[in-house]
Amino acid sequence: MATKILMVCLGNICRSPLAQGILEKKVDPKKIIVDSAGTGGYHLGKPPDPRSISIALKNGIDISGQRCRKFSPQDFDRFDHIYAMDRSNFRNIIAHATNKTDKAKVRLLLDALGSKNQEVPDPYYDDNDGFEKVFALINAACDALAAKL
Ligand code: 4NP
Repeated sequence: MATKILMVCLGNICRSPLAQGILEKKVDPKKIIVDSAGTGGYHLGKPPDPRSISIALKNGIDISGQRCRKFSPQDFDRFDHIYAMDRSNFRNIIAHATNKTDKAKVRLLLDALGSKNQEVPDPYYDDNDGFEKVFALINAACDALAAKL
């Protein structure tokens, strides 16, 4: 059975679509299935932010087909690992956990780099530099994850 991974941020239009696209590119799709969601529901059904689409394309990844959805408590049953981009997302996800097994599935994405409590900053109100930085952070974390999976 494939391992199922969910990337979660707030809006599901900037960071987690990038995390999904980046990790998908590094793993065997028969073994690892990646999805993303947001804890907020502001942009449901929308494609990723143009700045995320653009930085991904610059790096050979097409995320334009993704559509925004909200994190659901049922995601605990559907996914083996849930990676939050920041501590606020982490707390919002954990608030829906009903048992220890659910809780154990949730991690901060950047924990994969061996750091503790580090966040992928929200780039929504940033300029393009913010997206470059976010891409580099997520890319490094996904390299570490792909090596472990
Ligand atoms: P994301 O960024 O959580 O990385 O998708 C955001 C996108 C939209 C909003 C906030 C963060 N928003 O408030 O609409």
